[in-house]
Amino acid sequence: MTELAVLDPAIGFIPEEIDPTLDLFDEIERLKVEKNAILLAHYYQEPDIQDIADYIGDSLGLSRKAAETDADIIVFAGVHFMAETAKILNPSKKVLLPDLNAGCSLADSAPGDQFEAFVKAHPDHIVVSYINCSAAVKALSDIICTSSNAEHLIRQIPEDQPIIFAPDKNLGRYLSKETGRDMVLWDGVCIVHETFSEKKLIRLKVQHPNAPVLAHPECEEAVLRHADFIGSTSNIRRYARESEATEFIVATEEGILHQMQKDNPNKTFIAAPPESGCACNQCPHMRLNTIEKLYLCLKHEQPELLMDEVLRLRALQPIERMLEMSVGVK
Ligand code: 13P
Ligand code: SF4
Repeated sequence: MTELAVLDPAIGFIPEEIDPTLDLFDEIERLKVEKNAILLAHYYQEPDIQDIADYIGDSLGLSRKAAETDADIIVFAGVHFMAETAKILNPSKKVLLPDLNAGCSLADSAPGDQFEAFVKAHPDHIVVSYINCSAAVKALSDIICTSSNAEHLIRQIPEDQPIIFAPDKNLGRYLSKETGRDMVLWDGVCIVHETFSEKKLIRLKVQHPNAPVLAHPECEEAVLRHADFIGSTSNIRRYARESEATEFIVATEEGILHQMQKDNPNKTFIAAPPESGCACNQCPHMRLNTIEKLYLCLKHEQPELLMDEVLRLRALQPIERMLEMSVGVK
């Protein structure tokens, strides 16, 4: 079978051959039980990983799950900032990420030092940061939010309090419009959600006039303006389940279509088309995780997410504030 690599912190990647006779699904299940590990997966993971996960969710659901689990090991099938958040919330657990290089364009757009200067340049502003950011940016923030709870949180901030919103300018612009709040926006975008083509979306709507367009708020304004529903991945999934419609156009990373199709075998889901004919509606960071890397990660209990305790405690406060302020939000 494919030669894969397992991370050794001292020497980098070393190749490891996986026995081709192994059933990796059985092996992962066995290792999960043996090691008292929980596998948390985001909707943008490949279908095989979603199928073997103990919990699949959006960023809010995954954070809540990571905070409350009593497993000894959290294997995070998602990206780096998600695993980091799990470690911040539940530091006594061993947190593993199948590929430590699974980053995020939004998190990368806001390096800690530049963000610190930006915050200093806007004194008296409350800093609301989208969870898709590094621990360093979280530590400089007052409140963390996700796409499920952002509007709910911003509505709780006094009207005369100026706000910085980072790092996603598309989500920030959408929230400004919804809440009527003027916000200073950091200039970051998600490389996946900015690829959807408005022109192709309009063409698709003409071909499928009865299909509601379900879009993630990380999409550009030109795409959001054609949406019938805008929400987080979990809320897009819920909408499709509860709707009477039988076909839907979905403008977010296409990994979510797997659960939507499983929930609704008789409904049709059409992925909104990207600008070029590429597979750019698949997140290259999320897709670094594979079932093989997941197996090796559980077997060797690495790569492990480690964090400086001072940074962790500073980053914890705005995340805890988010959880307190969004009790009951789905
Ligand atoms: P949610 O699943 O919280 O909607 O976030 C989407 C996303 O882009 C995660 O990286
Ligand atoms: Fe980051 Fe976008 Fe990938 Fe989500 S889909 S991890 S926001 S790059």
